[in-house]
Amino acid sequence: MKKEILPLKNSTLRGEVCPPADKSIAQRAVIISSIAEGITKINNFPFSGDPLSTLNAVQQLGPKITKQESTKTLIVESQGVNSIQESSEILNLDNSGTGFRLLMGLLAGLPNNKFFVLNGDSSLKKRPMKRVAEPLIEMGAQIIGRGNCSLAPIALSGRSLKGGFIRTKIPSAQLKSAVILSCLNAENELILEEPQASRNHTEIMLKNFGANIKYKDNIVELIPSKLKARNINIPGDISGAAFLIAAASLIKDSSIKIKNVGLNSSRTGFLQCLEKMGAKIKINYSGEEDDEELIGNIEIEYSKLKGIEIKGDIIPNVIDEIPILALVAAQAEGKTVIKDAKELRVKESDRLKAIHDLLSALGIDVQELEDGLIIKGNNGQLFKPKTRNFNAKHDHRIVMITAIAGLLSEESIEIEGAEWADVSFPCFFETIEALKVNL
Ligand code: S3P
Repeated sequence: MKKEILPLKNSTLRGEVCPPADKSIAQRAVIISSIAEGITKINNFPFSGDPLSTLNAVQQLGPKITKQESTKTLIVESQGVNSIQESSEILNLDNSGTGFRLLMGLLAGLPNNKFFVLNGDSSLKKRPMKRVAEPLIEMGAQIIGRGNCSLAPIALSGRSLKGGFIRTKIPSAQLKSAVILSCLNAENELILEEPQASRNHTEIMLKNFGANIKYKDNIVELIPSKLKARNINIPGDISGAAFLIAAASLIKDSSIKIKNVGLNSSRTGFLQCLEKMGAKIKINYSGEEDDEELIGNIEIEYSKLKGIEIKGDIIPNVIDEIPILALVAAQAEGKTVIKDAKELRVKESDRLKAIHDLLSALGIDVQELEDGLIIKGNNGQLFKPKTRNFNAKHDHRIVMITAIAGLLSEESIEIEGAEWADVSFPCFFETIEALKVNL
C-alpha cells in the first residue's frame, strides 16, 4: 500500500491518546498462559500483527483459546505444560522474532520428544536463530535447522534440558527469554548471565504466574517451576508511543498526553535520551515497579533539541527506539553519535542502513558506521527530500519514522509498504490524523 504524507505546515499535534497494547508483553502473555494450569484472562490484547501471529501458532498447540475482539480480551484455558500437543502443521510466526524465539525455547524444553517445526515470512527467515539454538543445544536440546541451526525453518524435538549456568553473548531479551522458558522443566536450576541487562517482561510475568524466579540487572535465576493461570492487563506500548512522543517534541506548538503506557524501566531509555536532548516530558507513574509492569501517563510538548551520544549499556534499553531517536537527532542542533548498536542490522530490516538511506534522502548529513550512525542535525529546519518515493523495507518502525519525517518536510512524500505499520501499531496513521489541529 502506498501512503501519501502531507507536510503539517499550518497545523500541529494536540490531544490525548492511548497507544496500542505492547506486543512484546502480549506475546509473552499468550505463550506463558498456554502452559499455566487454569484459566488466564488477558485484557487489552492486540488482535493484529505480531501478537496475532503468535496467537495463531499457540492455538495449534492445544490450549483452548477464546477470542473476544470487541472487548480486546483473550481467554486461555490450559491444563499445564503436559497438555501441549504436537501440531501436524508448521508453526508459522510470520514476521514475529519474539514469537519465534520464545516458542523455540519453550518447545525445545518440553518433555517427551514432542516434535515441532517453526517458520516465518521472508524477513524472519533471514534473521539469526543460532544465538538461540546454541545455548539450548548446550543444555541438551535436539534442534536442527538451515545452515546448522542458523536460520528458519527450525525443527525440534522437545526434552527436559539440563539447566545450569548459561552466559549469553548478546544482550537480547528474546534470547534470554527463550533460555528461561526452556528451563521451566529442566533437571537443574538455571543461572543466566547477559553481557548487559535487556528488557525483563518474561521474568516479571513468570514470577506473577508462580515461577520460582529471581532477577536483578543482568542475572536471572530460575528453579524449574509449574505455572498457575492468572489475569493480566497488557499496558500500552512505549515503543509505539515513542513515535508520537518524538513527533510532539519536534512539531512546533505541539502538546500531547499519552495514557496507559508501559513504563518498565528496562524500556524507558528512550525518555532519558530525549530528556538529555532537551525535551519537555512529564511522567506520572501509577504504581510501583515491584515485580509488576509499571504503567502511567506521559505529557510532552514541543521544545528545541540538541544532539547527544547514545552508546554502551543503554543500547539494549533503546534498541527499538533508535530509528525514531535518529530522526529526532536529524532535527536537533549539533551532532548525535549512536554506537554499539550492531544488533540493528538483524532486525526486521538492516535498520542502520535503512535509517542512513532515509536520512540522506531527506537531505541530512549522516554517516553509517558498522555499529551505529553519526547524524548532523539540521536544527529544526524542514527536511528537503531528494525524492518523493520512500520504500519502508517491510519494516514497521521504518514506516513510522518515514511518516513523521513527511510531516516535517517541505514537500509531500509517498511511503511504499505503509501497511507494515500494522505489525506493531495498527491505527498509526489514524492516530496521527486524530491529533492534528489547525493553528
Ligand atoms: C523483543 C526484544 C528485542 C526487540 C524486539 C522485541 C522482545 O529484540 O528488538 O522488538 O519482545 O523480547 P532482541 O531480543 O533481539 O534484542
